[in-house]
This record gives sequence, C-alpha cells and structure tokens, in this order.
Amino acid sequence: MSDLAILGGNAVRTHPFPQWPRHVPGDRARLETVLESTNWGGYPFPNQLANDFAGAFAAYHGAKYGCCVANGTIALVVALQAAGIKFGDEVIVPAYTWDGTAAAVLFAGGIPVFADIDSDTYCLDVESARRAITTRTRAIIPVHLAMRFADMDALLELAAEHNLAVIEDCAHVHGGEYKGRGAGSMGDLGAFSFQSSKIMTAGEGGIVITSRLDAFELVQSIVNCGRASVTDQYKRRVIGSNYRITEFQAAILLGQLEQLPELAARRVRNAAILSRRLAQIAGVYPPAPQPALTREAIYNYVFRFRDSEVSRDLFVAALDREGIPCDGRFYEPVYRSDLFRVNPDDFPQLKAGRSQPVHYNDCRCAVTERAAYEEAVWLPQFLLLGEEQDVEDIAGAVGKVMTHLDELAAADPQLVGVKSMSRAERPRVETHRNY
Ligand SMILES: Cc1ncc(COP(=O)(O)O)c(C=O)c1O
Repeated sequence: MSDLAILGGNAVRTHPFPQWPRHVPGDRARLETVLESTNWGGYPFPNQLANDFAGAFAAYHGAKYGCCVANGTIALVVALQAAGIKFGDEVIVPAYTWDGTAAAVLFAGGIPVFADIDSDTYCLDVESARRAITTRTRAIIPVHLAMRFADMDALLELAAEHNLAVIEDCAHVHGGEYKGRGAGSMGDLGAFSFQSSKIMTAGEGGIVITSRLDAFELVQSIVNCGRASVTDQYKRRVIGSNYRITEFQAAILLGQLEQLPELAARRVRNAAILSRRLAQIAGVYPPAPQPALTREAIYNYVFRFRDSEVSRDLFVAALDREGIPCDGRFYEPVYRSDLFRVNPDDFPQLKAGRSQPVHYNDCRCAVTERAAYEEAVWLPQFLLLGEEQDVEDIAGAVGKVMTHLDELAAADPQLVGVKSMSRAERPRVETHRNY
C-alpha cells in the first residue's frame, strides 16, 4: 500500500487547523449594547458604530473617508458608480479574480474587458491592461491577490495617460501596504469585502474607501437611497439604493480591526517559514518576493506546482487528503467560469451601439489559464494562524506528496474528485467543506 493518504496511507495531519472566523472579547459587549439600543442599523445614516469603524478603517489604510456597504460586490458597484461609470463604458479587469469583480462592472452598466496577469504576482499585468484600452475604456480595476499587489505605480501612470479611473479591489488585502501606501488608498476608490472567509469579516459586509470628497459624498448617497451625504458640498443627487450595513456587523468589524495587526503578523511570520520550507522541495515554488510590499496581507498563501506527469488538480487532491485544506481552481479565468455565463439579452450594454454583441468566447489570457488550471495552489489563511508545527505539517505534507508523484502519476485519475470541478458545480456533490 502507498504512504499517500489518497491511496490509502495515513494522513500527515489529522487534527484541525485554527478556526476561522474568530472574535475578540469586546465584541460581546458591543453586540449587547446594539441589541439593547433601539438602533440596529440602516437608516439614519451613518450609524455610530458603522461610522466609527469606517473612519478607523479608512485611516488605517491611509484614506480620508470610508463608507460601509452590504458586501464586497456592492462595494465595487458603488465605487464604479461613484467613479462615473456609465452604460456601455468599458472597464479593464484581470481575468484571474473572483467572478464578482467582473459581475460588478455589468451591474454598474459597464462592460468588463479582461486583461492577463503578471506571472510573478498573479495580479493585473500592466502591458496587458494597456493593450486592452479602447476609446470606450473608462476605468481599471486592479485586484491585489495571492499575497501580492498589482504594480500600482505603473498602473496609475497608465490610468493618468488615458484619463481612466482606478478602483482597487482589495477583497484579499485588508491592512496591506504597497510602498508605504495602504491598500485601496492609491486609486480613486478602494473596495473591500468582509465576507466570512476574508481576513476581516462580519459574516458579510464591505466598505468603500477614498480620499476624494466628491466620490465619498456620492458613495454615501448611492448606498442610502439617494439621500444627501452628511457634508453635501457637491450637491449631487442620484438614484440610490439600500446598500447599508447594520450596527451588528459594525460591532463585529471594530473587533476585527482590533485583532488584524496581531493576526496579520502571525500569518506573515508563518508564511515566511513556509516559503523557506517550500523552497527546499523540488517541483514547488513559493511566491517570488515583491520588494514594493511594505506590509503584507495574506488571505491565501499561494504557491506554484510544476510537473509534467501529474496534474495540479491531482496534486491538490492528494495534499488535501493529507489533511491540508487547499484548492487549485480557487479561481478560473473569469471568461471561462461557470459563474460568468453572460447573456447579452440580460445586459443590453453588451449590444448597444455595436454590430455584434460583446462576447467572451475568444478571450485568451495565457498566464491566467496556466495559473488557474496548471500551477497555482491556494492555502486558506487560517492555516497560518497557529504555531510553527502547523507550518511544518503543511511543508511535510507537500514534501510527502512530491516524493510520491510517480505513484500519483500511475493512480486512477478519478481520484482528483471535486478538485477538477469548478466552484460553481461543487455544492452539488460536496457534503462538507473543510474551509
Ligand atoms: C477579489 C474579490 N472581489 C470581490 C469579492 C466580492 O466580495 P463579496 O463576496 O463580499 O461580495 C470577493 C469575495 O468573494 C473577492 O475575492
């Protein structure tokens, strides 16, 4: 019998990794205070805790203003609207991201145009973004992910050259800094998610940050049914919606911000150990260093796997069975994703003023496809919240699978199971998720 757990052997890790989410002691009292108060959130806007949190969060990232919203997708929609995106405007997004980044563009009336990623950072490639610019382009959404930032200096320069708005999708980088500048503070607006897997969470939630008062006023009106912002210096009146957050969520988020520095430091420390350990294992590659990173944020630890005989998906399936929660198809190229089946009849901006509707069948982003289908291995952040022994288990399991690749190459390919399925399809067959 093989040593590999996927082939009947014993798993390297049999006890669970640290739990996520986690809360701080002060949350309970804050939640009780909200519960006993008559103010559970929503209108009147802004509420006290939501306001306190938004201000503190924006300041932590070096932005002047923050406004909480219902979730990260809505944060992007609102940011796009506040940046002036209108029906039919093109917005450049990286092909390697959560489908919601591109869906938000559609919801805002725009047309997502996909660009490829940089092979070192897995974030938007500046030259690919440059090639995607047309006369209809109005904005770029860099998505900072895989423990790295998009090359913001070059992107901001490109945007300035073409008069484009920049909206940073910061769903993976709460607290991160690039050359001393906080995530979300470099572009016109930054959008964050507080969905339950994120490194700050209230179960759901989101925030838009900006240093532009005109944009901040618009954001406040858009999320609050069009009501005037608190300052109302620009006197803009818009049709808004209800995208508000509750005081219960804000009560939790204050605690999340409080614990962020300590948890981030722990992840960074463990990630550094893991990178050193992985660098010693042939066939896997820790992420290349990014000198511009001045404060790391780790939502997933992402490394590369390369082998000519065994697929990345089978490697991931084997690693998972060793007791290390992980994924390969965490993201697919959005233009090929089952969660992004775009019908131009549903989004008329894809047809208006064009002889042929925009479609995504011909999109090809080679680096994204390689990352998504061949090489990227995503480890959830909570694996790095514990002790050094956890990291040893991860590296030990990776090393074990790598030394048995010949057995995997000869194994039944069906063993790959859900790891070769898109995330859209998995809920049908998964009875539980280990992360
Ligand atoms: C890169 C990225 N953008 C946007 C979102 C959307 O956030 P939410 O799930 O809170 O709507 C997510 C989160 O899933 C994300 O990972």
